Amino acid sequence: MLREEVLVSIKTNVENENLLKHMLATEAIMRALAKRLGEDEEEWGLTGLLHDIDMELTGGDMSSHSKLGADLARELGANEAMARAILCHNEAHGVSLETKLDKALFCADPLTGLIIAAALVRPDKKLASVEAKSVIKKFKEKSFAAGANREQIAQCSELGLELNEFIELGLEAMQGIATDLGL
Ligand SMILES: [Fe+2]
Repeated sequence: MLREEVLVSIKTNVENENLLKHMLATEAIMRALAKRLGEDEEEWGLTGLLHDIDMELTGGDMSSHSKLGADLARELGANEAMARAILCHNEAHGVSLETKLDKALFCADPLTGLIIAAALVRPDKKLASVEAKSVIKKFKEKSFAAGANREQIAQCSELGLELNEFIELGLEAMQGIATDLGL
């Protein structure tokens, strides 16, 4: 499975720039998590990159979102572990999180939004000027980026990571692709 081929398919299925950036950010965090946990960086990264490929095709209908995504991922060559993680990142299907890959995608997904929001309130709106401690503070302010599900992010504990470590790892990963994110 080649990242370039995956990107071509994503670009034909995703028009919204912010959604594309969210998928790239999720990929970056998933790669960093895999590295940290000694897992397959390419497998985890591509799972993150692909996870919302069907969001526009399903019109955000949560009863079909991620089912179609898992099928599209399989067609692109994703293995069953990847397809499964994509399927169960949407809780609407009632498929439990079992593998580390499932759990990683589930907690990485909402962290991207919290970090992007933390960058957008900086005077220069740049990820480079965001500090992990300010993201951790924002995590505790429930009204800040309220769409970034805190309980879901906190499930990094299932991977044996402290919340602070997870936020630091996620921020650093996203700072590494700041240009792609336009932040
Ligand atoms: Fe997502």
